[in-house]
Amino acid sequence: MEDLLLLYEKYINPSLARTYRFMGLDHEEHTAEGAVVVDAEGVRYIDCAGGYGVFIQGYRHPRIIAAAHQQLDLMPLSSRVLVNPRQVELAQRLAEVTPGDLTYSFICNSGTEAVEAALKIARGSTGRATIISTEGAFHGKTYGSLSVSGRDLYQAPFKPLVPDVVRVPFGDRQALESAMSDSVAAVIVEPIQGEGGVIVPPDDYLPAVRSLCDQFGAAMIADEVQTGIGRTGTLFAVEQSGVVPDLLCLAKALGGGVMPIGAVVGRPWIWKVFEESPLIHTSTFGGNPLACRVAAEALAVTMDEDLPGRARELGAWFIPALQEVCARHPDIVAAVRGRGLMIGLEFQSAGMGAMIMSELFQRQVLAVYTLNNERVIRLIPPLVIAAAQLRQVLDVLAQALDAVELVKDELA
Ligand SMILES: Cc1ncc(COP(=O)(O)O)c(C=O)c1O
Repeated sequence: MEDLLLLYEKYINPSLARTYRFMGLDHEEHTAEGAVVVDAEGVRYIDCAGGYGVFIQGYRHPRIIAAAHQQLDLMPLSSRVLVNPRQVELAQRLAEVTPGDLTYSFICNSGTEAVEAALKIARGSTGRATIISTEGAFHGKTYGSLSVSGRDLYQAPFKPLVPDVVRVPFGDRQALESAMSDSVAAVIVEPIQGEGGVIVPPDDYLPAVRSLCDQFGAAMIADEVQTGIGRTGTLFAVEQSGVVPDLLCLAKALGGGVMPIGAVVGRPWIWKVFEESPLIHTSTFGGNPLACRVAAEALAVTMDEDLPGRARELGAWFIPALQEVCARHPDIVAAVRGRGLMIGLEFQSAGMGAMIMSELFQRQVLAVYTLNNERVIRLIPPLVIAAAQLRQVLDVLAQALDAVELVKDELA
């Protein structure tokens, strides 16, 4: 593995290679199945990192792999001249499973592209400029998405960003109300902030965002790139608030753990910008037959296996069980929170979080940090994970906490 890491250092990212080494994450991934990743030496890891939330249906789900093979044998990419049936089938399915009158889809290749499209559609259709986003938000790292994200660290070197973006505290209805005006094109929110540290807003927050958008004629953009496709216990997290956004962004698990894909699904009124100019926003690879066939199968698997229900049931005992384990270490863990199987562990210091991740890894459990909150690590396992595997995670976490207990003063 050292050779591989040296090459990573030489050809990809020297600084990240050093971090891998420092964290003890210098093992080569080889294969994976269900909720287990296997390294090149045959060591098996229970995956609670889920590829940053991609593997809702697990790794290499047989139905999704079979669908990919079928489409590969037919036509993986589109001629872009004839009509692509796989794209139409997926768009129809998305209209059927998304709430309310979300109807039209623009299909792309990633989360950040879904957000870029949503921002452009909102500005283009409302004829307004201002976008309101929230502190701690993460919407991606291309310019538009970065501009509406909420951490200065990732923005500072790249300024000037897209103008007319206003940031308000997340979960704060009053702050949003004060920022609203007739020049607001859109308010963009994650139903639960993922990279911000798994922050669950008050129950009345999303309904308040919806009604303020209605009042001021602005579009509500729900970024469900991370919360979508069952993660929080319903297919889309907005369903739990009874809210229908004007634009819903999806990616990650929409690709069934097999293909990169993103989508923004919109209500009819906001598709106006395409009415005026049908090619106003396009992508060569976006909506390709292979990704769309895989995504349609991923949605079918998610529904047939009731994965949102599994997230609900497993989360209902796993989150309290984690809280119980962590309550024995109040000097290390500040909070355990989440919904379904989207779970954040907040530590008293960033160093403690990093050491826990490393200790978990040494005991063959994968977890993942959050980009915008250094004190929080996430557990976002595939929803096909077995209860027994989650019990094993609890045992391992207890051991990892005991290990940190011995050196916690140095990490405070
Ligand atoms: C809520 C949210 N939006 C957008 C993105 C960006 O997605 P991608 O990395 O596919 O561009 C992410 C990625 O973590 C995300 O969590």
